[in-house]
Amino acid sequence: MTGMDRPRRLRRTPAMRRLVAETSLEPRHLILPMFVADGLDEPREISSMPGVFQHTMDSLRKAAVEAVAAGVGGLMLFGVPKAEDKDAQGSGASDPDGILNRGLRALVHEVGGSTVVMADTCLDEFTDHGHCGVLDAAGAVDNDATLTRYVEMALAQAETGADLLGTSGMMDGQVGAIREGLDAAGYADTGILAYAAKYASAFYGPFREAVGSSLQGDRRTYQQDPANRREAIRELELDLLEGADIVMVKPAMSYLDILREVADRSTVPVAAYQISGEYAMITAAARNGWIDRKGAVLESLLGIRRAGADMVLTYWATEAAHWLA
Ligand code: PBG
Repeated sequence: MTGMDRPRRLRRTPAMRRLVAETSLEPRHLILPMFVADGLDEPREISSMPGVFQHTMDSLRKAAVEAVAAGVGGLMLFGVPKAEDKDAQGSGASDPDGILNRGLRALVHEVGGSTVVMADTCLDEFTDHGHCGVLDAAGAVDNDATLTRYVEMALAQAETGADLLGTSGMMDGQVGAIREGLDAAGYADTGILAYAAKYASAFYGPFREAVGSSLQGDRRTYQQDPANRREAIRELELDLLEGADIVMVKPAMSYLDILREVADRSTVPVAAYQISGEYAMITAAARNGWIDRKGAVLESLLGIRRAGADMVLTYWATEAAHWLA
């Protein structure tokens, strides 16, 4: 080599930087999580997530059309039942007329075919105790009894025409049980987006408001300990063996190392979920004028892509897709 090595040569002009950029961020990489609530007259803004709404059936349709027009890759729907409709079994989750299944049908009708419609397949929004499963006599989450409920929920969701079921409950064997149940009922084409590595995170706080969660206690007996890395690989391998079509890491920004490792090992596409607390942090700092919102949002999404995510669930999906268009 003659003279000094000069990496700055490749940073000199916007055209040069564009040419050598290793990571891209496109609208199709973004998935919008959405909330549809039962019994609402008007969309209701979630106070800890300014700019994110619990939708009525009508505003859900409109927001979906807007997201799809902006080019997002998919929509992930969560249902918010009325408090009085919750029970210990989370019956509303598998009721064809439950809020989530009605919302899914509306999305499939409105934008199915132009985007990928995904369903949250978990009981926590529907149980009166707020856990992701049913409880045994001692009040602990009963893994295998929960699997039966997940299969019932999955069949009701598949019936709506949803493309992918997002198994977010972190019960052992959930992907295999749901795959088997779907296949046996003739839903071989309904896919599974498996939350392979989902950590017990403090950053879920705003989401619990978003879905009106009634959780007492915590989810540490089923979600992963933030201290652990190997466990994520084990969860990944199990989900792949059980038939996951896509695997997910959640949250995203505090778990980029996990995301990289999962992306290096996975034989299926990898998603990451930039969760409610991540949205809230950037939003709050930007509102205080402490951080540039657009710059921080795009940098956070690019970082998640760089760490290995093929696709990112983010509450900024529609807005970011507009910026990227
Ligand atoms: C639970 C579920 C959670 C989220 C999605 N599904 C949180 C939890 O475990 O309480 C969090 C999403 C977010 O924080 O944006 N099934």
